Amino acid sequence: MKKHHKMYRTHNCGELTMQHTGKEVMLSGWVQKSRDLGGMTFVDLRDRYGITQLVFNMETHADLCNRARKLGREFVIRVTGRVSERSNKNPQMPTGDIEIMAETLEILNQSRVPPFTIEQHTDGGEDLRMKYRYLDLRRTVVRKNLELRHRMALETRKYMSGEGFIEVETPVLIKSTPEGARDFIVPSRMNPGEFYALPQSPQTFKQLLMVAGLDKYFQIVKCFRDEDLRADRQPEFTQIDCEMSFVERDDLLDTFEGLARHLFRTIKGIEVEKGFPRLAYSEALERYGTDKPDLRFEMKISPMTGLVKGKGFQVFDSVDYIGGICVPGCSEYSRKQLDELTDFVRRQQIGMKGMVYLKYNTDGSLKSSVDKFFDGPGLRQWTALFDARPGDLILVLAGDRELTLKALGELRIEMGKRLGLRDNNVFKPLWVVDFPLLEWDEETGRYYAMHHPFTSPYEEDIELFRTDPGKVRAKAYDLVINGVEIGGGSIRIHDESLQQLMFDNLGFTEEEARQQFGFLLNAFRYGAPPHGGIAFGFDRWVALFAGIESIRDVIAFPKNNAGRDVMIDTPSAVSEAQLEELFLKLNLPSKE
Ligand code: AMO
Repeated sequence: MKKHHKMYRTHNCGELTMQHTGKEVMLSGWVQKSRDLGGMTFVDLRDRYGITQLVFNMETHADLCNRARKLGREFVIRVTGRVSERSNKNPQMPTGDIEIMAETLEILNQSRVPPFTIEQHTDGGEDLRMKYRYLDLRRTVVRKNLELRHRMALETRKYMSGEGFIEVETPVLIKSTPEGARDFIVPSRMNPGEFYALPQSPQTFKQLLMVAGLDKYFQIVKCFRDEDLRADRQPEFTQIDCEMSFVERDDLLDTFEGLARHLFRTIKGIEVEKGFPRLAYSEALERYGTDKPDLRFEMKISPMTGLVKGKGFQVFDSVDYIGGICVPGCSEYSRKQLDELTDFVRRQQIGMKGMVYLKYNTDGSLKSSVDKFFDGPGLRQWTALFDARPGDLILVLAGDRELTLKALGELRIEMGKRLGLRDNNVFKPLWVVDFPLLEWDEETGRYYAMHHPFTSPYEEDIELFRTDPGKVRAKAYDLVINGVEIGGGSIRIHDESLQQLMFDNLGFTEEEARQQFGFLLNAFRYGAPPHGGIAFGFDRWVALFAGIESIRDVIAFPKNNAGRDVMIDTPSAVSEAQLEELFLKLNLPSKE
């Protein structure tokens, strides 16, 4: 950013240093703050690029100084003056060696007193900041996230183009896409009674582009899902969406590992080793209690059922799974700390009844909450199983297998947090592979596609469709970094009869399949190449690189947890006339 429009500025507020001393300059920006020291008034002038200190001198420029004293926070001003060396340097700031001895001052615009301070640590709560998001975005911390986001999008485009991918835009007004969440729908005025759906992803379109022979497609694209919101979920979010033809799974993983390594290198300056670890879904669940393991620390789950079941301890004897983790260096945990952990696993979201512990004290002795049921040699078997060392603490949970593994996974993360093992500057990517193709749903009594209905099963598992459909493995994969699901994709079905078999298992009649996906099935009849792809959650990736939890902080204008934009105040009612035009009538439940 070198050329400025000379009417307003010769330089920006972040670029003047000692080499400019003596120069006449013109700056424009916002008043961050001013300090009136009697003889001198200091003003911090801010723009996107930084902050520069202005000095108004009472002795030499009394008039000017008096006007400067009256400047309010966030006033927009233009000043001219001479760059001079500061006597009181600030090494924290790039412009901290200099200040501007002001000679002219013009107020370009006034500002009301902002509702919160526009500083690194603001006094504004989330709601207030969101209502005045344009002021929140003036804060360096928030703006930095948008700058990071821009650089990541740019580097993504560079890498993808370099690999021969072309960016193609796909429509936003489409027909329902089968990704598992609810669609947002849009009524059509020209086609009364009919609706578009906003895409949950461009899934079907990118597959059509493969049929079209585009070979390598990508798009940085908005997706829309009407689902319950969390820190890592927004109703509209952005994907780096990709698809390629004539590839098998490993070609894909190599290509996109390349993208990840490129972003690590160019954005974080980190060289990540080739060949990210690959972990089967079933192993991820057994060893980490989740399909998105955080590999920044070990503390793996070990099954203990065989070792401890049937020894007369009712809690263990009455369940189908017992497992534990070995926490290094925590044998001195107090009663209170252990109670806290018990409360943690008892929370509703986790749902365990209790927790058993074994302390392997530093003097080599053992102390457990089940001393009554297990003798010394019995407990030594536990320490042997975990390869525990004096000073370690073994935490054990028992219950339904699936639930208990999940709880152990949460406990593992909690202990990782407590022990400071989740360093934001350490990155451990991996591929989770071999997901099940189908997922049984108790409520509706049918299978659902775990990823989506176009995901290909392993050829060698197709037999299982007849005997045990839940065991069929999919050629699907997720990229997981530090416990965050950054992306997911699969090799697709390109064979009509296999697609039919899939629909059969999902309980679609031929008619239903035709109605929903007819356009795709039709296209597959005209020479669909073998193909596959992946989509990355761009917001999540930016948040991960920014070292923050919530994707809201990397989105310029996000929605709150109720799906509202409180700044523009939407969703909102529409006029009767608008509804009439669409032949729509509201049928709202009456308010209590
Ligand atoms: P999937 O549904 O796994 O796959 O989505 C891909 C990635 O998008 C991110 N993501 C979200 N980010 C923010 N808010 C949300 N509500 C949200 N939902 C998903 C996640 C996720 O890993 N079409 C397939 C991809 C394919 O098969 O090629 C798809 O959309 O990081």
